[in-house]
Amino acid sequence: MGSHSLLAWAFVLPSLIHATSPPAGITVSSFAGATTTFAFPPAGQTITVPDPAFPDGEQVGFPGPTPTGDEAIAIATAPSIAKFTNVFPLINPATSNPNSKAPFDVLHHFGNLAPWQSLSSAWLSARLANASPKIPAGCQLDQVHLVHRHGARYPTTGAPPSAFAAALHAVAQAGNLTVTGPLSFLATWEYKLGAEILTPFGRSQLFDLGVGFRVKYGDLLKGFTKLPVWRTTSQGRMLDSALHFAAGFFGVQTYQQDYHQLIQIEQLGFNSTLSPYYDCTNGINDHSNFGTTQALKWANVYLAPAVKRLQPFIKGLPLTPSILFAMQQLCAYETVALGYSTFCPLFTDDEWTGYSYGNDLAFWYSFGPGNPTTSAQGIGYAQELLSRLTQTRITKFDTSINASIATNETLFPFGQPIYVDATHDTIISAILTAMNFTALAAEGPLPTDHIPPNHVYIVNNVAPFASNIVTQVLTCPAPATPSANTKPTHIRMILNDAVLPLTGLAGCQPNSDGTCPLDTFVSALQKRIGEVDYQFDCFANYSIPDPDPIVNGQFPQ
Ligand SMILES: *[C@@H]1O[C@H](CO)[C@@H](O)[C@H](O)[C@H]1NC(C)=O
Ligand SMILES: *[C@@H]1O[C@H](CO)[C@@H](O)[C@H](O)[C@H]1NC(C)=O
Ligand SMILES: *[C@@H]1O[C@H](CO)[C@@H](O)[C@H](O)[C@H]1NC(C)=O
Ligand SMILES: *[C@@H]1O[C@H](CO)[C@@H](O)[C@H](O)[C@H]1NC(C)=O
Ligand SMILES: *[C@@H]1O[C@H](CO)[C@@H](O)[C@H](O)[C@H]1NC(C)=O
Ligand SMILES: *[C@@H]1O[C@H](CO)[C@@H](O)[C@H](O)[C@H]1NC(C)=O
Repeated sequence: MGSHSLLAWAFVLPSLIHATSPPAGITVSSFAGATTTFAFPPAGQTITVPDPAFPDGEQVGFPGPTPTGDEAIAIATAPSIAKFTNVFPLINPATSNPNSKAPFDVLHHFGNLAPWQSLSSAWLSARLANASPKIPAGCQLDQVHLVHRHGARYPTTGAPPSAFAAALHAVAQAGNLTVTGPLSFLATWEYKLGAEILTPFGRSQLFDLGVGFRVKYGDLLKGFTKLPVWRTTSQGRMLDSALHFAAGFFGVQTYQQDYHQLIQIEQLGFNSTLSPYYDCTNGINDHSNFGTTQALKWANVYLAPAVKRLQPFIKGLPLTPSILFAMQQLCAYETVALGYSTFCPLFTDDEWTGYSYGNDLAFWYSFGPGNPTTSAQGIGYAQELLSRLTQTRITKFDTSINASIATNETLFPFGQPIYVDATHDTIISAILTAMNFTALAAEGPLPTDHIPPNHVYIVNNVAPFASNIVTQVLTCPAPATPSANTKPTHIRMILNDAVLPLTGLAGCQPNSDGTCPLDTFVSALQKRIGEVDYQFDCFANYSIPDPDPIVNGQFPQ
């Protein structure tokens, strides 16, 4: 997505230390920090279809028996729902104090660069501590709406890791770099990351999400009379993610025949609720860097001891909190791209907790409850959800919705038992703010000098790679005989397997399974949509107050 999503922490090339006499240390290769790349297949070697030498499966024939079984619907019938914990083939790294608070889960402190894993509902609500994504007893599942983030990717263009590599490489090439002790590895370290596109692990995340969705919700396919229409955007990793989801859900041999993939254009000048910032000036100008500024204040606090600790081991490159932050990002990016990273063990458990909180600040103030454009950016998806729930066409277009898509029954069909939309981390966060999930914002503006006790706005939970929000539409009590013709009565929403408390949706009563009567939810959502002033929040010329008291993602009226 746009540059605003990259958490572009101000990466200032330090004024260089000019070593007068070469310090003792490891001899540094001049290629240290060099960027390396590789592309496959070999030049000129592409497949021509059909290839007489290699006929495809259909041409060869003899597939053996191919009877299809019945669909699974584990979300309703299994005794319990499997938790998603798979991070294979990633190594969960050690920290520099592995024995202090063992076991410490570094992979769960990567913020928006973490792989998604199932969460417990207790995270947001004591009342929901025992709630499960399993369909509540006595209810019938009618419909499911999934909106998910893309999988693990390389750094966004110009993000701190490549700037760090370039700075290191310049110093090494000038013959000025000396490294020792824990930083010795930098002598031969090269930058192997590309930019923007999915990593192989990222592909597996979406494939797994598709497989999981088929096992949990596959029986809903019986309610389709036409092929499903599922949406993503045109960006490389977004399309790749959507296709891998479909491949996991339908299987690689048939997925291209089994559904329609709608690809909305993700580019300045185009409307899309899945990439709304391109139709929201304040969502893509300096206001979107407000979180970076706040996070840097915190980096100066939590990384100050690490600067002192590590500086003695490197000569030629003065360390700063933002350089160390780039190294922590490198740990995360190398892990999800290369499987492991030598940067990870440089930092302590507390510094990983600090890094995680830095991401929380960056998101809260740029793409979460504290930014005045957040609700505007999330409200388009909320409007489309409402349109689908009520089977009512949207008629007023003053948000990020693309009118020619949302009014067209072919491109935006009603009555699908399964909806799937792909989006970005920042928009997953924006949807939750726009829909008034106030439990996520209840702790108020986040401080930049310490981590608050009982901290809940945790980006690692909200918007990790392949993060997913599932909306279940239910009939309770279930009809005596299963029926597709019932009028659904209830709804609830689930974030990464944690049932969400609908605290900010007027009229939804607290309970132990997170459900709300559908008509109450619809009225509250209509009211909430009326509260959000897209045109003002996206296009008016204003300054974000600093300190920033905003907790609802809207400019204070
Ligand atoms: C390398 O050190 C020399 C001598 O101190 C200095 O003039 C030069 O600017 C340095 N260059 C880099 C890239 O560090
Ligand atoms: C709306 O979507 C259609 C179909 O993708 C596209 O041709 C059109 O340019 C889009 N309009 C805007 C304003 O995004
Ligand atoms: C795109 O969004 C703007 C509002 O931000 C709206 O005025 C315009 O009509 C929309 N265009 C389409 C094709 O939906
Ligand atoms: C809906 O979209 C399809 C595909 O772009 C197009 O062929 C059709 O004319 C549209 N229908 C209407 C009513 O605009
Ligand atoms: C959103 O939450 C705020 C704070 O709890 C509340 O004042 C407002 O009424 C809520 N909006 C809706 C539509 O329920
Ligand atoms: C926004 O307002 C400020 C202060 O009134 C003004 O200096 C600036 O030029 C305005 N910016 C735009 C894009 O209109």
